[in-house]
Amino acid sequence: MATITVNGKKREYQGSPDTPLLYVLRNELDVTSPQFGCGLAQCGACSVLLDGKEIRSCITAVSAAAGKEVTTLEGLPERWAKQKNLPPAEAAKTLHPVQEAWIEEQTPLCGFCQSGMMIKATELLEKTPSPTVPEIKAAFTTSGASAHLCRCGSYFAIVEAVQYASRLMAKGGAK
Ligand code: FES
Ligand code: FES
Repeated sequence: MATITVNGKKREYQGSPDTPLLYVLRNELDVTSPQFGCGLAQCGACSVLLDGKEIRSCITAVSAAAGKEVTTLEGLPERWAKQKNLPPAEAAKTLHPVQEAWIEEQTPLCGFCQSGMMIKATELLEKTPSPTVPEIKAAFTTSGASAHLCRCGSYFAIVEAVQYASRLMAKGGAK
């Protein structure tokens, strides 16, 4: 059994501790933003934050997340609201600036990779609020287990969306 915190809520998983976190999230806990792409830590579609660090949930055993905070795309609004100390009424209608930027820039094409892309962008912007273009490219290519892949080729839009999100975050999230 493993107890993990997913998007601020404690969840229990009764199965094998070796089960990949991705399977537990999608199949047991109904958290479906992380996608199964390669299953080999080679694409980034399954990325989630584990205590703020982007990890590949397809190769991470659920036991490795025990006692830690897992954040998925579904949990980004709450994460932002907490960081900004927003009152509950405002928090309920808030998206994370990264999500706002992705919508404004119309970044997704098929969308399959984009949850992982937004998770990576969030990790980057929490550490580096005003990244340069080379820093953005490095974050998505060389900073993690492998480059984040987009079969639709949305890479330029992603760079622009990260820059947009950076500006939104500097203004406190307001458009
Ligand atoms: S599905 Fe996990 S990195 Fe591709
Ligand atoms: S938007 Fe289709 S794979 Fe990235």
